[in-house]
Amino acid sequence: VKKLNIALVGLGNVGSGVYQILTKEIDLINLRCKNKIELVAVSARSKKDFIDQAKVKFYDNPLDLAEEKAIDIIIEVITEEKTAYDLLSKAIKNGKKYISANKALLTNRGFEIAGLVEEYNGHIAFEAAVGAAIPIVKSFKEGLAANKIQEFYAILNGTCNYILSKMSAENLDFDSALKQAQDLGYAEFDPTFDIEGIDTAHKLTILAAIAGNFKPHFDNIYIEGITTINISDIKMAFELGYKIKLLAIYKNLDQNSTFQAVYPTLIPITKKIATIDDSYNAILTYGNNCDWNFHVGRGAGRLPTASAIIADVIDMANDRFTYTFNCKADLLEDAKIIAINDRHGKYFLKLSLDYKLSKDNNSVAKLFLGGSKINIETSFFTSNKNGTEIIFGAIITAIKESDLIAEIAKFDQNLVKSSKFIRVEETGGF
Ligand SMILES: NC(=O)c1ccc[n+]([C@@H]2O[C@H](COP(=O)([O-])OP(=O)(O)OC[C@H]3O[C@@H](n4cnc5c(N)ncnc54)[C@H](OP(=O)(O)O)[C@@H]3O)[C@@H](O)[C@H]2O)c1
Repeated sequence: VKKLNIALVGLGNVGSGVYQILTKEIDLINLRCKNKIELVAVSARSKKDFIDQAKVKFYDNPLDLAEEKAIDIIIEVITEEKTAYDLLSKAIKNGKKYISANKALLTNRGFEIAGLVEEYNGHIAFEAAVGAAIPIVKSFKEGLAANKIQEFYAILNGTCNYILSKMSAENLDFDSALKQAQDLGYAEFDPTFDIEGIDTAHKLTILAAIAGNFKPHFDNIYIEGITTINISDIKMAFELGYKIKLLAIYKNLDQNSTFQAVYPTLIPITKKIATIDDSYNAILTYGNNCDWNFHVGRGAGRLPTASAIIADVIDMANDRFTYTFNCKADLLEDAKIIAINDRHGKYFLKLSLDYKLSKDNNSVAKLFLGGSKINIETSFFTSNKNGTEIIFGAIITAIKESDLIAEIAKFDQNLVKSSKFIRVEETGGF
């Protein structure tokens, strides 16, 4: 039995949670560790009152921790990417084990990091970077390791899920729901990364790399956030039997290609994933041997995120290690990701129609006749608040996205004042 000394870099939201668990629950943690652990050093831009400085030494420069012979494990929970990378590379080169929650870093430099870890025979773990308290990284690398992950559908951003849930449950417009999320501390002052889908795409990149043994490829992922979703879309979707969620979607297609995208999606109300509201995250996975599998939990927050980090610490103290992206770095392949225009699936089509012209029932029917590739599955009409426009909403049967766009371009513009579509995902499983 050896003792492993831990350094914690970053003492903000997540870092304070890690400190709390490592101090208050140290006996329980050590009960579960082959090699005992102890927090001995911390670093941040500024000192914090909650640190017991008699037991834990403060370092002004986090990079100095990577040089300290006595440090075995570095936990990095800072927001700044450049310092995080410098710390990681120095620490790995100096033989430290490394834990990070930094999804942007793992997304943007993941392949390089995997190579570095292997070159120096190092170890890195990042359970907290995706889905926080949900053990999805471990699940893909360990519990489901005997499977080809064929598909997953994931709610990976608590802020977006909170906003869409509030809009739906309380009839709130987007801005009011966002304001509530900010007041509760779910959304940052600048929420762009969350609401534009970028944070979700970072997490998709990491999970897809693990699922398919790919080099992380953020740039090729199609990303659409939730800013274009309004209360009318949510209500109409509900009338048609669906809820709207921001999903990260991964599908393993034929010919070694994959579909990887982030967009708001209509999901049938009858599916469990459609019922995951508030700031919870969820991942619905299909593996070729395990069949469908469903994880739900807190995808952000001080203690839920720290919980995942401490699980990585316990793994390291028990000498449990896995490859960075689930195989040796030089075996990771370039993912072939198909273009969004080639998506083949169902769509929710919403048309705003001229009031007078739409009174003639045939005028709307004519839009979908004459060789149109659009086939209506279910539809209904409603009107806007002041009754000046008729809104037509329909679920259309599976079609290639480029064909749908071409058909919409052919609509009579005197009748159709504006149009939009939202993709529909009818997942398997429960
Ligand atoms: N919040 C979550 O729920 C959550 C969930 C999953 C993953 N994460 C990830 O966890 C990481 C930390 O997030 P957070 O919410 O805890 O952020 P935060 O509250 O803003 O805290 C960031 C901490 O990092 C320190 N820091 C920033 N730049 C530094 C630098 N160059 N050198 C030294 N210290 C530096 C800050 O020091 P000062 O306090 O002195 O300014 C602060 O203590 C991020 O990578 C985030 O993406 C967060």
